[in-house]
Amino acid sequence: MNDTVKLLSTEQTQAFDTEYVDDEMFELVAKQLQHYHITQQDFQLMDVGGGNGKYVDRILSRFPQASVTLVEPEPSLVAKNTPNTRKHIIPSTFQNLDLPSQLQVVQFNWVLHHFVTDGYANTCQLQQKAIEEAYQILAPGGVILIYENFYEGAWLKSLPSWMIYQLTASQRFAPFAERLGANTAGVGVCFHSASYWQTLLQRAGFLTIQETHCYDFGTLSPLKKLGLMLKKQSVGLLIAQKPHC
Ligand SMILES: C[S@@+](CC[C@H](N)C(=O)[O-])C[C@H]1O[C@@H](n2cnc3c(N)ncnc32)[C@H](O)[C@@H]1O
Repeated sequence: MNDTVKLLSTEQTQAFDTEYVDDEMFELVAKQLQHYHITQQDFQLMDVGGGNGKYVDRILSRFPQASVTLVEPEPSLVAKNTPNTRKHIIPSTFQNLDLPSQLQVVQFNWVLHHFVTDGYANTCQLQQKAIEEAYQILAPGGVILIYENFYEGAWLKSLPSWMIYQLTASQRFAPFAERLGANTAGVGVCFHSASYWQTLLQRAGFLTIQETHCYDFGTLSPLKKLGLMLKKQSVGLLIAQKPHC
C-alpha cells in the first residue's frame, strides 16, 4: 500500500476521544455478528481507526471468544487505550499496514470518510482500495461492518460529497470551512450516500449487502443545507459478507 493518505493534526483529532456507538448501535452489531454466525466460534476482529479503544473493549467484554486488532495512527488516541491480552494495537494508518489474513470481521466506524488524498477522484479510489483490501483480509464468510454518516444530495446524490470535500480539503478555503464548523479544514473529509458505499462494496466482491438506518441528524442550518444541495444526513450501519467460496 502507499502512504498518500492525508491525516488530521493531533489538535483536529481531539474531538474523536469519545464513543459514537451507543447501546442500541452496539446491540445491532452484536445481533448481526450472531446472524452471520461469527460469534459461534473464536473470531478475530480488526477495528480500523479504533481511536481510544472503547468500542473494542466492549466487544472483548461481551465476547470472550473474540480477539481484536485496533489500527490507529493518532498517538494521543492510542495512548488512551486500556491494555487487554486479547487486544493488539497497531499504531499505523490502514494504508501502511502489513495486511493480515483470515479475519472474521473488519470494522470501519466513521473512518472511511477520513481516507482522503489529493483530488476528489483519487480520494474515492483510496476509499475503494480500502474496501477491496478489507475484502482480501477477510476469511470466506467474514463480514465488513461500516458505521457512517450518510450525505444524500437533493438533486444529484453525490453533489454534497464533492462540495464538502472541495470545501474542507482546500487550504485556501480552510478559514471559511472552519467557520462552518469543519474540524477537518485544510485536510479534507469525504462523506457519501449509503448507496455510493454499497456500490463500492459490490465492486470489491461483497455479497448480501445490508443497510440499517439508525437515525437522521441535522447539524447544518437550512441555509447551509441549501448551499450544499443536501437532502438528508443520516447515520447507518452497512454490513456485507464475503462469499463462502
Ligand atoms: C471520527 S474518528 C472515529 C473513531 C472511532 N472509530 C469511533 O467510532 O469512535 C476517526 C478515527 O480514524 C482515525 N484515522 C484517520 N485516518 C486513518 C487512517 N488512514 N487509517 C486508520 N485510522 C485512521 C483517526 O485518527 C480517528 O481515530
